[in-house]
Amino acid sequence: MEAIQVEGGHPLSGEIIVEGAKNSTLKLMAATILAPGVTTLTNVPNIADVHVMGKVLKRLGAEIEVADEHTLRIDTSGVDKWETPYQLVVQMRASTAVLGPLLGRFGKAVVAMPGGCNIGARKIDMHILGLEALGVSFDIDHGNIHASTPHGLIGSTVTLDFASVGATENLMMASVHACGTTVIDNAAREPEIVDLANLLNEMGAHIKGAGTPVIEITGTTETLHPVEHRTVGDRIEAGTFIGMGGLAGGPLTVRGFDPRHLDLVLRKYELMGLDIERLSDGVVVRKNGPIKPTDIQTLPFPGFPTDMQAQTMCLLALAHGSSVVTENVFENRFMFASELQRMGADIVIKGHHAIVHGVSCFSGAEVKAPDLRGGAALVMAGLVADGYTTVTDVHHIDRGYEGFVPKLTSVGAVIRRVDLPDLGFDSE
Ligand code: UD1
Repeated sequence: MEAIQVEGGHPLSGEIIVEGAKNSTLKLMAATILAPGVTTLTNVPNIADVHVMGKVLKRLGAEIEVADEHTLRIDTSGVDKWETPYQLVVQMRASTAVLGPLLGRFGKAVVAMPGGCNIGARKIDMHILGLEALGVSFDIDHGNIHASTPHGLIGSTVTLDFASVGATENLMMASVHACGTTVIDNAAREPEIVDLANLLNEMGAHIKGAGTPVIEITGTTETLHPVEHRTVGDRIEAGTFIGMGGLAGGPLTVRGFDPRHLDLVLRKYELMGLDIERLSDGVVVRKNGPIKPTDIQTLPFPGFPTDMQAQTMCLLALAHGSSVVTENVFENRFMFASELQRMGADIVIKGHHAIVHGVSCFSGAEVKAPDLRGGAALVMAGLVADGYTTVTDVHHIDRGYEGFVPKLTSVGAVIRRVDLPDLGFDSE
């Protein structure tokens, strides 16, 4: 069993360059279905989730050339299937992002129903309701969603109950070829939505308002054309390393992303006492005395990102005082807190609130990564814990962080991947 082992107490300093955003890349890859031919995506992170999306596209008939470690050439001219099997959807829920582009290109799609997920139920009812408004019919049987467009895709106004990232993206991709104009009201505003809209517009789509709560898509009858596109920098990878630098000394420079995409996180870090210097393409962070308690609540962009909740809770767990962390986006996203308690944190969970009483130090322990960001946050705790911390279930971390261990080693962390003996009992 592979694990990450960290020896606490080594200060971090130097420079880390972050990769392209995981959440953007996955949707950019899905969008290539809409533009038959070879689209080149650059600044693509070399992570497990991207490999799964590659498998999804190949299964549909695409060919993918890895031009270099961060460049994919995706040829979608041979895409001739519209079915995504459960074995792939279960590995990565974001594979449902092909629903919109398949409908846009073929007017039909079969996508396995995503099952539960360890950070909550993660339903897709808003995707379905929105697409129904555009004229899509759904049948659900044997665990699959069969989508068809008996009268074609018809532009319409869709008001989302909640600014869902995935629903906004699927609706945007489905409607590029709808007849007339589609308006997505209460749309998600994440930088990754803007990146996807930019790619689609470069391909010949007509999308206005991405990055605002109202997105307007004027359908085109022209086939979209392939392009070359650079993925936006990963603000969440950046925020993770900035938090680590602020906890374990600094100065740590984190580059490769737009600090405006992380504005609220950086402002909260400043309130917590971290010294943050903004650059055009990154941030320099330094620890600056004790961490101050601060309340945070997660919300869709430009609110505080749920994907930064665990890492920030890790900092607050060492603050001089108490803080309240409120999770509004996903149910069941506090599993990280119980692992951190094994390292000495004092956290009380009440529904979707966590009351975090700061302690003076963490003590190294064996802990289990509950999910992607929770796993990274446990490594973060290990950087300043007393003794050794061993984080198991590292496949979660590999889903979204490229070169996590080497990057941290390069700035002074004493960290390595280890193989632990499997203590499972044989059944006779
Ligand atoms: C994306 C990101 C994820 C991030 C999240 C919120 C990817 C691959 N993942 O996930 O890292 O944490 O945005 O910023 O881009 N919901 C429904 N019905 C729906 C759709 C969503 O109830 O039809 C609920 C979800 O269960 C969740 C909330 O809405 O509680 C937010 O989900 P959404 O914004 O859609 O997140 P994802 O696109 O799944």
